[in-house]
Amino acid sequence: MIDFRSDTVTKPTEEMMAAMITAKVGDDVFGEDETVNALEEKAAALFGMEGGLFCPSGTMTNQIAIKCFTQPLDEIIADQTAHVYRYEGGGIMFNSGASVRLLNGDRGIISAEMIEEEINPIGNIHHPHTSLVVLENTVNRGGGSCYFLKDIEPIYHLCKLKNLKLHLDGARIFNALAYTKDEAKEYGKYFDGISVCLSKGLGAPVGSVLLGNKETIQYAKRVRKVLGGGMRQAGFLAAAGIYALDHHVERLQIDHLHAKQLESCLLNLSFVKQVLPVQTNIVIFELNDSKNADNLVEELKGKGILSGTFGKQMIRFVTHLDISQNQIEQTIEILNGID
Ligand SMILES: Cc1ncc(COP(=O)(O)O)c(C=O)c1O
Repeated sequence: MIDFRSDTVTKPTEEMMAAMITAKVGDDVFGEDETVNALEEKAAALFGMEGGLFCPSGTMTNQIAIKCFTQPLDEIIADQTAHVYRYEGGGIMFNSGASVRLLNGDRGIISAEMIEEEINPIGNIHHPHTSLVVLENTVNRGGGSCYFLKDIEPIYHLCKLKNLKLHLDGARIFNALAYTKDEAKEYGKYFDGISVCLSKGLGAPVGSVLLGNKETIQYAKRVRKVLGGGMRQAGFLAAAGIYALDHHVERLQIDHLHAKQLESCLLNLSFVKQVLPVQTNIVIFELNDSKNADNLVEELKGKGILSGTFGKQMIRFVTHLDISQNQIEQTIEILNGID
């Protein structure tokens, strides 16, 4: 099977496994796991942030950040495609008691002007207190669309002016950086919190790191404990994360090239209405009425290709570490053979 369902399906490479089983570990709830500590420091330094917190998932890092940056009855501003809103099980309301104001961005990309219009006036008891803006880079539902730092800068200035916190769901931040060529270190200047996922494009089996200043990370550690996310000899997992940061970042360009090859093929197929312009490793395309998305996903499965529907008449392919050039060529041949 050629598995394009997500970049989360990758399995650790032999070299990554070797790094994992030889990791030096301790009890991380006591702060004694040197590999976890090393991963947190490494990730923080990469993004120019003061500290990091290793967590079991991207959902947890996002939810902890939202808890750190809001009070119950506050409101968050995010795009309507945002993972934190659509795919985290309603966790914002459950964990933080906050509401969400949704914007209609361009493939999930929102601007300072759009945000400014939706900030509630302070001191009016009718309105929830706007306290946080959440951006996603790349935007999953946007088809891997990217923010450049120059787009983020005015949002940062607005947040400072209006006393709002700014969090980044950076589940695929390294894909964004590979496309924009922005510097990771610059990100620390703009965000109060950054969630960096290790188990998507980077190919680690588990884990995300939440980055922030010392005070935020200290409180985040408490919230992680409350959520049951305090792990013990987690260094075995953190070692995979360190390996991924050292060895799997540069190669993301290969995944992007593969996604571009799929895009070129799809653009020439009679049953494809449109393909969201590919920037990174996510390819979302819409079918015209001659085909039904569920049926095509089934048909492809029968031919050895796994994909997923992604809204009405939409299908998503995600390229990743476990997809080879050979498999891309096979996929293109199969797609070209469908009528
Ligand atoms: C943009 C985005 N944010 C957060 C997450 C959550 O990550 P996890 O599955 O590790 O909870 C995902 C997962 O696919 C995602 O695509």
